[in-house]
Amino acid sequence: MLILGLETSCDETAAAIVDARRRVLSSVVASQTDLHAEYAGVVPEIASRAHAERILPVVREALAEAGVGLGMLSAIAVGHRPGLIGSLVVGVSAAKALAWSLSLPLIGVDHVHAHLYAGALDSDDAPLFPALGLVVSGGHTSLYELPDWLCPRRLGGTIDDAMGEAYDKAAAILDVPFPGGPNLDRLAATGNDRAIDLPVSRLGRDSLDFSFSGLKTALLYAARGVPGERAPAPPPPLDDRRRADLAASFQRAASRAITIKLERALEHASQRGVRYTSLLTGGGVTANSRLRAELATFAATRGLRLVLPPVHLCVDNAAMIAGLAHEALRAGATSDLTLRAVPTAGV
Ligand code: KG4
Ligand code: ZN
Repeated sequence: MLILGLETSCDETAAAIVDARRRVLSSVVASQTDLHAEYAGVVPEIASRAHAERILPVVREALAEAGVGLGMLSAIAVGHRPGLIGSLVVGVSAAKALAWSLSLPLIGVDHVHAHLYAGALDSDDAPLFPALGLVVSGGHTSLYELPDWLCPRRLGGTIDDAMGEAYDKAAAILDVPFPGGPNLDRLAATGNDRAIDLPVSRLGRDSLDFSFSGLKTALLYAARGVPGERAPAPPPPLDDRRRADLAASFQRAASRAITIKLERALEHASQRGVRYTSLLTGGGVTANSRLRAELATFAATRGLRLVLPPVHLCVDNAAMIAGLAHEALRAGATSDLTLRAVPTAGV
């Protein structure tokens, strides 16, 4: 059983072939980073045009790399929500055309849920449920409880910026070039993470939601000074040393905001008599070196099995779409040709 997965929700055009034992036979990602760099962010119209140009070459490459012909496929899967509507439409249309012309089942996959599957790919260990799930990406910061792969229940999410968005804005404040997150991660490696005490949001006592806008503003003030007449003394000059210290301090506060909520989620679950066995994680920000280290320590000290994708599967890819689609296919949860591209997040 081989599934071809397509992913076009934002600015990567991706196709992958995954078998029923979660092995990734190919995973091709055509990144558009260079097209958007001069705007320091993704321009939706440019993204959808690039997807339209690249989707078929990327599918051909995924088939060739896996040594698989179209006739060997069992289903076509596509990330159909959430994302930029013009970008999603390209993937959904291509998937429908392939499914219809090959008479194969079509499977619409939620992109955010699929991020949680990335760490299970190429692994023989079946993740143990119930699991706590964390997705931190450019568009999403969400906590889930997963009784199984197909019915994640959202426990909380960001009330303002997504964590990756906060990283990208922090990078802009520190004059770190696009793509901000990975470059800020590199800069932070040379800084002192205790140099500046930046705030860690907790929200209400029981809240499982996240907020990163206060941290972002605190970083802005620490870097550029507090505006207004009654502002304190101006901050030290923003030289390389100070930029690295601010980057490292930002990473410490941002990662702490995550582990505080993971801890709370464990407490809430235990009050309901639920004990998680695994911590499933995914999304672009799980590529962050500081967060990876903190998640490893967190899981080890709480007796949770950590499922953390390799760095190349943290960011958007189609292998996670095809992988989760195998679970849907096994459960008979296929879509039909009325499948819609949906910009908003599901549960
Ligand atoms: O999952 P993803 O590719 O796209 C979305 O679904 O949003 O995540 C992209 C996000 C960007 O905000 C990027 O800056 C961030 O992930 N990111 C990182 C790192 N690598 C990617 N953030 C911090 N540290 C990194 N190493
Ligand atoms: Zn994503």
